[in-house]
Amino acid sequence: MTSAGIAHALGVPLRINSVTIKNRIILGPMAVLRPTEDGRVSDQSIAFLERRARGGVGLVIVGGTVASERGWNESPFSPNIRFDKDEFVPDLARLVDAVHAAGAKVFAQIFPSFGRMGVPRDGARLVAASPKPVVLGAQGLPDHVYVPGGRTTPVPDEATIDDIAEIQAHTVAAARRARAAGFDGVEIGAHMCYFYSSFLSPLANQRTDQYGGSAENRARALRDAVAATRAAVGPHFPIGIRVSVNDHMPGGQGPEGFAEVVAHIAPAGLDFVSLSEANYESMGVNVPSTSGTMLAHGEPQTFRAGLGDIPLFLSSTPHPQQAADAIAAGHADASMLARQLLADPDYAIKVLGARRSEIVWCDHANSCLRRLMTNVPVACHKNREMGREDPRAARAGALQNAFIWAAGNAVLMKIADTTARMLPAKRTH
Ligand SMILES: Cc1cc2nc3c(=O)[nH]c(=O)nc-3n(C[C@H](O)[C@H](O)[C@H](O)COP(=O)(O)O)c2cc1C
Ligand code: SF4
Repeated sequence: MTSAGIAHALGVPLRINSVTIKNRIILGPMAVLRPTEDGRVSDQSIAFLERRARGGVGLVIVGGTVASERGWNESPFSPNIRFDKDEFVPDLARLVDAVHAAGAKVFAQIFPSFGRMGVPRDGARLVAASPKPVVLGAQGLPDHVYVPGGRTTPVPDEATIDDIAEIQAHTVAAARRARAAGFDGVEIGAHMCYFYSSFLSPLANQRTDQYGGSAENRARALRDAVAATRAAVGPHFPIGIRVSVNDHMPGGQGPEGFAEVVAHIAPAGLDFVSLSEANYESMGVNVPSTSGTMLAHGEPQTFRAGLGDIPLFLSSTPHPQQAADAIAAGHADASMLARQLLADPDYAIKVLGARRSEIVWCDHANSCLRRLMTNVPVACHKNREMGREDPRAARAGALQNAFIWAAGNAVLMKIADTTARMLPAKRTH
């Protein structure tokens, strides 16, 4: 395909329920928005998103949010943008207006609970489908990311029927607030070992009640949440889910199994499925260093075969030709990018304007991820503007920057790992 052909394929508008997105390039959700300490949208949150909207993406998905007080008290990456009280709606509306004015649509990613990945504060009680902790990166970590000594999360309680109902109610209330703030749609986060994800695969779901066992039972909690959200927001407001396409773990569920579960959820009122690779236990696959791995594994293709023509958002395919070919072949409907749009906020304008030689490429060295995982303000060494799109935004200090460098150094991390493994085990619960 020529550059003009690629631009054409990625420039075709995409309809999602009542909303038309002007092209097929999407800013994926990222917890890099630097809200205020009490969870409000900041000027930096808006400036970051507005910059990517001006850079030509058709849709912005707002990540790093919480939909409930529970989510606020257990989020692994804080502070987050809050959707759990009406008082946050005016600030959320300011964000929506800015993205709209810059020419893009905007969806909110909704996180009612972090489940197996929760970090409990203020006496929070973690719940998931089954009492299974996460062994972080059990099957490998992304390039240049290390967890000295390894990390196993606290064991969550098995969610009771009341817990499931409470989390569903929070999901619905947050979706209502998103609509009230003017968002164009919502995406329920059900991937990466978070609450709803723990139901979807037999690897994490060992229940014997109506929420465990068959694909239909494992779909039930999320299907009910989608149905209740649909009832609350009406037939025309886009609702999607973000799910893993493959556990990439020994004994885990593959794309056929995940697609079968999602096929039980779709009739409840789904308008799109945002595809995510693997989870925290197989995180190296989740954040890959080459473009198009999901396609190479055949996962979007399997979802398409299992789900028909529901819009599918492809991840981690910054190579414009691969993304255009995948869309032209019908394997996916849009290319959703995360790190590439940190490195180059004008990627979409450049691809759609057939100016490929001007793209600043993400190098996949993952210092952004190391910052996220250690709660240091995210920055990108390929784009000095990233993280201070609002020039008044605070930057990481020199010590923090040195720490992030050291945390990506293989030799230092080998020493740290050996030392950590010699120390007595720390209680986590
Ligand atoms: C700094 C950073 C923050 C992220 N925060 C979120 C988030 O809030 N929600 C989410 O679903 N994914 C989050 N992700 C994962 C990305 O959306 C994406 O799935 C992953 O980076 C792989 O896509 P990529 O190859 O385009 O970077 C984050 C990734 C990074 C690098
Ligand atoms: S820091 Fe920038 S260049 Fe490096 S992986 Fe992250 S987005 Fe890519």
